[in-house]
Amino acid sequence: VTGRLIFAANWKMHLGPDGARRFFDAFLPAYAPRADREVWFFPPAVSLPAAAAAIHGRADIRAGAQDVHWERSGAFTGEVSAELAREAGATLALVGHSERRQVFGETDDMAARKLRSILAAGLTPLLCVGETLAERQNSQTIAVVQRQLGVALAGLEPSALGRVVLAYEPVWAIGTGHNATPAEAGQVHREIRTLMAAHGGPGRARVLYGGSVRRANVRELLAEPELDGVLVGGASLDAAEWAAIVQSSVTPR
Ligand code: PGA
Repeated sequence: VTGRLIFAANWKMHLGPDGARRFFDAFLPAYAPRADREVWFFPPAVSLPAAAAAIHGRADIRAGAQDVHWERSGAFTGEVSAELAREAGATLALVGHSERRQVFGETDDMAARKLRSILAAGLTPLLCVGETLAERQNSQTIAVVQRQLGVALAGLEPSALGRVVLAYEPVWAIGTGHNATPAEAGQVHREIRTLMAAHGGPGRARVLYGGSVRRANVRELLAEPELDGVLVGGASLDAAEWAAIVQSSVTPR
């Protein structure tokens, strides 16, 4: 119903240009395109040109920025805009990843501005939302996701909303080895879709799950029809492991 499954790799602060080239030298021969899926890579900004060059000609594989600044250009030392990332080969950009929010103090409002700049640059945004362990324990999961999405999506036209891909990434599941169960993720995904539709977006927005996804649990997670794909950190850094993950057999939807 929703189109192709998305397997997204968030390399975080790993794999410079040489490492990225070596990764693709090993990964590309191991992965032939499949009609039912796309593979997305989010390398560090310095590795975007190497990634873009490596995947050139593969319509099923895309690369993007892990973060952008909300202005197009200017006196913002150390920052990279969506426009500059596009020039370096990005067609995608992550926004609102929990590490940006937690480690770098990014607010809902900053994520909202970044989302607008990504859309304006013509890139596909992958907007991340998710609750902390304390928030889940206090039954605030839905309220947190509602707030994060509400600020990010406020005032966007339906045509822009239709371009936004979402990722549910519970903070307690990221890098902990403790993934959400398919049912736990599915419940929040349904809520995210309802919120997206309530903002005037598509009836069935694309929602990925992220947080300790690996080879051993990806099939079980993707058996849950609410998941349109996965966003993977640690397990995406090894070409053989990642090739196994993106070739997982999944129930057709
Ligand atoms: P992880 O990270 O797969 O290492 O848990 C996921 C993410 O942060 O996107």
